[in-house]
Amino acid sequence: MNTARMLQKFEEGANSMSGDIEVKTVRLYGLDYKGCMSCLACKIKDKASNVCRFQDALTPVLEEISQADGLVLGSPVYFGEVTGQMRSFLERLAFPWLSYNDYSLTAPKRMPVVLIETMNGTPLRNNSNGYGSMEHCIATALGKPRSIAAYNTYQVTDYDHYELAGFSEEAKRQWRSEHWEDDLQRAFDAGFRMAEEIING
Ligand SMILES: Cc1cc2nc3c(=O)[nH]c(=O)nc-3n(C[C@H](O)[C@H](O)[C@H](O)COP(=O)(O)O)c2cc1C
Repeated sequence: MNTARMLQKFEEGANSMSGDIEVKTVRLYGLDYKGCMSCLACKIKDKASNVCRFQDALTPVLEEISQADGLVLGSPVYFGEVTGQMRSFLERLAFPWLSYNDYSLTAPKRMPVVLIETMNGTPLRNNSNGYGSMEHCIATALGKPRSIAAYNTYQVTDYDHYELAGFSEEAKRQWRSEHWEDDLQRAFDAGFRMAEEIING
């Protein structure tokens, strides 16, 4: 819901900068894949690879990212972290970057990165650890990411229909009317800026 909307806005921003930009959106929940299983195929002598060698539904996505000009990731915050699905994806993305010879982190290609997170918490009261230690891997191997967070999101459209008494729908509505359009605008602007960086080099 919220995360998908932020990503849509990012895409709109990128497309509005140039008709030459192609944004491909992959919904991780729609793919059947696992996190890294430590097969170490990416570290076999003389055949080491900085793209995961394990074959499943994530393989073509990882191949595509290795040649992309930019990367935007979006996840809701679940129990203070990105979703398990995102974490599994990040393990598969980043472990092949990591050299167990010298602990350097090298991706096939550096590129601009934007990390989006959405959550119930507010800027002053939240438990988000965001992309956590994966952010360091991304910053080192791809480039320092820009981060965007949307706070105090709607979790459902009708709070009366659910056991969600811990939240005040009124307060949520108020927050949303003051912040949501700005959040979407920041996602749009980030898309525009990434497209600019890609087109202008
Ligand atoms: C399983 C689960 C765990 C969650 N944990 C947190 C949390 O730890 N902190 C937080 O601020 N919000 C938490 N939330 C709220 C979501 O992060 C928030 O509603 C988010 O915007 C949902 O994104 P979506 O609309 O794209 O699904 C949780 C939601 C679910 C379903």
